[in-house]
Amino acid sequence: MLLLSVIVLLRAFLAYGDMNVQAVNELQKHLFENYNKVVLPRHNASQPIIVYLESYLADLSQLREAENVLEANMYFHITWTDEFLTWNSSEYNITELSVNYDKVWLPDIFMINGLDDSRYLPVQDIMLFITHDGHVNWWPGGNTKTKCKLEVSKYPFDSQLCMVILEPWKASTKEQIFQLLHTPQVQNLKMYDEHADWKVTNLSEVVYVNEFYDYYGIAHYEYRIHLKRRTVYHILNIILPVPLLSIISLCSFLIPPSSGEKMSLCVSIFLSFAVYITVINNELPKTANGICYFGLYLFTQLLIGGFTIILSAVVLHIYHNDRQYDQLDQCKKRKMSSNERVKEVNNLENNVEKIQKNKAFALKLDMFLFKATLILDVVSFVVFLILSNT
Ligand SMILES: *[C@@H]1O[C@H](CO)[C@@H](O)[C@H](O)[C@H]1NC(C)=O
Ligand SMILES: *[C@@H]1O[C@H](CO)[C@@H](O)[C@H](O)[C@H]1NC(C)=O
Ligand SMILES: *[C@@H]1O[C@H](CO)[C@@H](O)[C@H](O)[C@H]1NC(C)=O
Ligand SMILES: *[C@@H]1O[C@H](CO)[C@@H](O)[C@H](O)[C@H]1NC(C)=O
Repeated sequence: MLLLSVIVLLRAFLAYGDMNVQAVNELQKHLFENYNKVVLPRHNASQPIIVYLESYLADLSQLREAENVLEANMYFHITWTDEFLTWNSSEYNITELSVNYDKVWLPDIFMINGLDDSRYLPVQDIMLFITHDGHVNWWPGGNTKTKCKLEVSKYPFDSQLCMVILEPWKASTKEQIFQLLHTPQVQNLKMYDEHADWKVTNLSEVVYVNEFYDYYGIAHYEYRIHLKRRTVYHILNIILPVPLLSIISLCSFLIPPSSGEKMSLCVSIFLSFAVYITVINNELPKTANGICYFGLYLFTQLLIGGFTIILSAVVLHIYHNDRQYDQLDQCKKRKMSSNERVKEVNNLENNVEKIQKNKAFALKLDMFLFKATLILDVVSFVVFLILSNT
C-alpha cells in the first residue's frame, strides 16, 4: 500500500514539476469553462460509459462475528474516459493534469453492502489524474465497513466468504457499465498486513449485470475475500481442554467405591466444566446463522458429566448396600434360641454371600461404565471433528 501511495505522490509531483504554471492555468480554464460535472461525459448518448474497476485489500482490521461485520482498509483503482476533458498535448505542452475529485464527473458507484458511511467510497480530497486523451484515473481508499454473513457451524475449522459489492445507485447499463481493469486479476496476497485470527486465502473479482432492478439492468461488481480461521490458538485453548476434562471425569469410574473419593471427583469435574463454559463463552462465535458443532459437543460432554455423577451414585449405592443386614443382625442376636441361632448363622452366611455379590457387581458395573463412557467420549469427539471438517 505504501508503494501505491508513493506512486500517487510521485505522479502528482511529476505532473506539477514539469509544467508551466501559466499553461496549467490556461488548460484548466479551457477544460472547465463549459464543463458540467452532472452531465455524462460522452458525445454519443447511446453508448454507455465503461468504468474499469480494481480493488485492493490493504489491511483486514477485524471481523466482528456477533454483528457479521467486516472492517477493512480497502483501496480502489477506478478509471474511465471523460470525452469532454481532452486537449491537444502539443498545444499546451502538458500530457497529464491532476484535479480535485469534486471538479469532474464521477461514476455512480455505491458500496451496496457498506454500513454507515461506507456506502460512499472513501474519498477524502483524493486527487484524480487526467491524461490529454480524457482518460481519468482515480484511487479512492480508506476504512470500509461491510456486511458479511458468517457461517460458523464448523468453528474453529470454518472458512468465510466476505464480499465488497459495488453498484450504481441509479445509472442503468444504458449509462454506465463496469469492467475489470485486469482479467484475470492476479493479486499478491502478501501485500496486506497479516491478521491474527484470519488468513486471506483468495481474493477475486466478479463483474456482471444485475437485471433485478431495472429493465436495462444494473452493473454489479464484487470483490470476494476468502478467509480461513487460524485454528492453532482455538484448538489449544478452547477445544483440547474439553476432551481432557472428560478423560479425567472417566477416572471416577476407576476409583474404588471403598475409597470414598468417587463422588467428590465427579462433582468437582462437573463444576470445572460449568466454570469453563462460562469462561470460553466470550470466545465462541455467536451468530444466528446456525449452530456451531463445537457448542453441541460441549453440551454433550456436560450431559455425560451429569450422568457420570448419577451413575457413580448408583454404583456407590449398590456397593454399600450391606448396612441393613448388619443392623437387623445386631438387634436380633440377643433374644435368640440355639435353633434360631443356627438359622441365623445360615442366614448371615447367605447375607455375606449377597453382600459379596453386590460388591462384585458394583465393581463390574464401574468397569462397564468406564468403557461405555470412554467409547461415548471418543465417538462424540470424532463426530465433532468429522462434522467440522467436511
Ligand atoms: C515542453 O516541456 C518540456 C519539459 O518541461 C520542456 O523541456 C520543453 O521546452 C517544453 N516545450 C515547449 C514548446 O514549451
Ligand atoms: C452512437 O453509438 C451507436 C452504438 O454504438 C452507433 O450505432 C451510432 O452510429 C453512434 N452515433 C454516432 C453519431 O456516432
Ligand atoms: C495540436 O497543436 C499543434 C500545435 O499547436 C498543431 O500543429 C496540431 O495540428 C494540433 N493537433 C490537433 C489534433 O488539433
Ligand atoms: C481464487 O479464486 C479464483 C476464482 O474463484 C480461482 O480461479 C483461483 O484459482 C483461486 N485461487 C486460489 C489460489 O485458490
